[in-house]
Amino acid sequence: MTNGVHMQISLGKLSQKETALVVFSIQNKTGKETATKVTHSELSKHLKAAIDDKSITGKSGEAISYRELNFSGHRHVLVVGLGSKIDHESVRQVAATIQSAAKALNAKSLAIDVDGIPGSKKDAVHNLQGLIEGLILSNYNFDELKTKSDGGNDRVKADSDLHFNLVTKFSADPAFKKANHEAHVLAETVNFSRRLGDLPGNLMTPTILADSAVNAAKGTGIKVTIWDKARIKKEKMGGLLGVSMGSAQEPRFIIMEYKGAAASKAPVIFVGKGLTFDCGGISIKPSGGMEEMKYDMCGGANVIGTLLAIAKLKLKLNVIGLVPSTENLTGSAATKPGDVHVARNGKSFEVNNTDAEGRLILADALSYASELNPQLIVDAATLTGAMIVALGNTHTGFFTRNDALSKKIEAGATVSGEWVWRMPLVDHHVKDMKGTFADLSNVSSSKGAGSATAAAFLEQFVVEGTPWAHFDIAGTAWAVGGRLPYCPKKGASGCMIRTFVEIAKLYA
Ligand code: BES
Ligand code: ZN
Ligand code: ZN
Repeated sequence: MTNGVHMQISLGKLSQKETALVVFSIQNKTGKETATKVTHSELSKHLKAAIDDKSITGKSGEAISYRELNFSGHRHVLVVGLGSKIDHESVRQVAATIQSAAKALNAKSLAIDVDGIPGSKKDAVHNLQGLIEGLILSNYNFDELKTKSDGGNDRVKADSDLHFNLVTKFSADPAFKKANHEAHVLAETVNFSRRLGDLPGNLMTPTILADSAVNAAKGTGIKVTIWDKARIKKEKMGGLLGVSMGSAQEPRFIIMEYKGAAASKAPVIFVGKGLTFDCGGISIKPSGGMEEMKYDMCGGANVIGTLLAIAKLKLKLNVIGLVPSTENLTGSAATKPGDVHVARNGKSFEVNNTDAEGRLILADALSYASELNPQLIVDAATLTGAMIVALGNTHTGFFTRNDALSKKIEAGATVSGEWVWRMPLVDHHVKDMKGTFADLSNVSSSKGAGSATAAAFLEQFVVEGTPWAHFDIAGTAWAVGGRLPYCPKKGASGCMIRTFVEIAKLYA
């Protein structure tokens, strides 16, 4: 693997062969009292003085290395804080602390006291999954474009090996084995999608994105079809074509089909915005921070990742992934403010701001999705700056008028640990998107609610009655590392892949 150190994870017994033993410190809160404990009874006694003088507090994220302790065959002991509220997401986050502490210790192999994490056996399955996901997710490092890894604070270089032995008496239990497998599939596909997002625009064009989908799908059973510019034109995708006109790069329309159920079963369709670079077009963006618009294809990358994960997990449903992909640039043929194009479903729209391009390429993809008689359409897009204003980078905002679907989304997100927040979408937002000279305008005639009016625009391309939800990932697709320790500080997060897989499971 080029991204992160080569890492191996196994479930097993305490073997005393590892360089370091990782145990957890936890806080038990009763009333005003907080008692700290270390999750290894013998070590707890050994470290009593450190607990008593509060060197060990049990706070989430604390990491205390006892070097050369030589405790029962382990050279080093690492005490990692779990806090007082322990669930799979807090464990996922703490895994990032273990990962960086392991690298700082320069330990090649570590035993982790998994059975010491408090909770029921059912909790233990989820916690194990969270731990493994956290270890793999926090090992991601996009350094392939540097001539050599500068190492940063990490003393273990990219070419070294790191082995984690997750110590649990349940290592042969089918539920634990399944959690281990799922964690690997999910976290590895998230890392795959992150890399697509992190690659700069010159190395991640629509053609390269399409080729990446084709290559990654090999051996998974997913059928990938790529439409080129001529085909996109023939398919009357006037939105995608119109946005691509300012660029020398050809657009692509990526279709991924996974069949995990009888052909008669209606598919679940995921649609992702694959804008490989968005300078705003003629309504050009300010130059400060414009480089971040290489991430404007994260919806597409994460939909590709979702399809890969679903296929690798062999979920029993039919799933289709659709990714319209283009650049949004200022070439002499570029769409101009005021230009009118016609989307695949025949609706015309005025392009009153060429920077509101995501909705135009999604319009065609949603129209096409609607034609395939799906049981559900879900889209993901870095669609609006207004989403960041509304929710920052903590929650992904989602829009749907379907209450039952909203409940399913929330249930899926509870399992994945990703935070989502339902946003309003009402007829007023639709009215705001009416055009003067065409059916629709791509920008709202009212002030504010920029994310909701964008969602209302998208809704015009989904056939009425089809359950549909739109996820605006503008705030959560990258640079969430300050909040989620298992995500890179500046890079792509791979958000919503894990949630989308959980949503898909509810339709299997
Ligand atoms: N890709 C952007 C949205 C975006 C902005 C994502 C910042 C992440 C960070 C999108 O294409 C866009 O530019 N939207 C405009 C729409 C507006 C012109 C109606 C926006 O949000 O400013
Ligand atoms: Zn834009
Ligand atoms: Zn954009």
